[in-house]
Amino acid sequence: MTQTPLARQWQSWSQSLWDRIGPAWSQRDLPDLVYKRTVVLPILLSAYESQRRHFQSIVDIGCGDGFVADMLVKGLAARGKLPAEIALLDRSQDFVQRALARASLAASRSLVGDIADLPIDFMQPLPSPRFLISTLVAMELFDLSSLLRPVGRILTDQDEFCMVTIDPEFSAWLLECGKAKLAGRGNGEVDWEWAAEYPVTINGRVFFFPHFQRSLALCTRIANEAGLDVRQVVRLSVPDTEETRTVFKETVYGLEILKRPSAIALSLVKAKDPGA
Ligand SMILES: C[S@@+](CC[C@H](N)C(=O)[O-])C[C@H]1O[C@@H](n2cnc3c(N)ncnc32)[C@H](O)[C@@H]1O
Repeated sequence: MTQTPLARQWQSWSQSLWDRIGPAWSQRDLPDLVYKRTVVLPILLSAYESQRRHFQSIVDIGCGDGFVADMLVKGLAARGKLPAEIALLDRSQDFVQRALARASLAASRSLVGDIADLPIDFMQPLPSPRFLISTLVAMELFDLSSLLRPVGRILTDQDEFCMVTIDPEFSAWLLECGKAKLAGRGNGEVDWEWAAEYPVTINGRVFFFPHFQRSLALCTRIANEAGLDVRQVVRLSVPDTEETRTVFKETVYGLEILKRPSAIALSLVKAKDPGA
């Protein structure tokens, strides 16, 4: 896929940021881990179970250090629904290695590379039906179609792709109340000065790329253009428990994060009529 110079610049910037903060961040940031356990995992399980079929493979696109895949595998094993094959993809070799170091993922197939270059035969050895996931990746991408187009190419009629990202309405609220700032401007220009000054979550600020993160309608259109239909949309908020109150009280979101859906899961399937 040909990328514009701006998209390339963005990508290399966000990757170098991950290389710098990623390893330390994913181990130390307790709110992040609690968020994944209390919101991302349940939303994935609900999407998985809503299909009422036994998936044979899981494919995690942008798997990071495997924290989510590990929880999902264990959750499915406890329900007697563990698929035969797991496959992990991330452009960071370090993350893939750390994911494979987890006992539950040690036997997984893995690929280090960019989503945009996903080889068409990547899925071939993986038994069908396959449950593809991508959690908290979409919001980092310059262009959502760089994820959805390759997925649209490799997905078969039996498979399902569950994309979990930050709910656009939650992003909009964060922006409205000034808790988040955009790294891009309305016309798609990256504000490099801002991006350099406020890198992602490290200093409590949130990073979103604006193109799709502000609108489910735009997200749906990009999916349709990639030959995918939205089968289901699930929104979820952080559950209100003693643990989550304690953990999120001190974050930039405060206890507001318990009151409104912050995660959204789009269950995407191969379009029945790709030309429509
Ligand atoms: C916020 S982390 C999420 C990791 C994991 N899915 C989770 O929920 O814990 C985003 C991950 O996406 C990966 N990533 C971002 N853009 C990518 C791309 N274009 N191709 C492959 N991996 C990508 C990053 O390397 C990083 O590991």
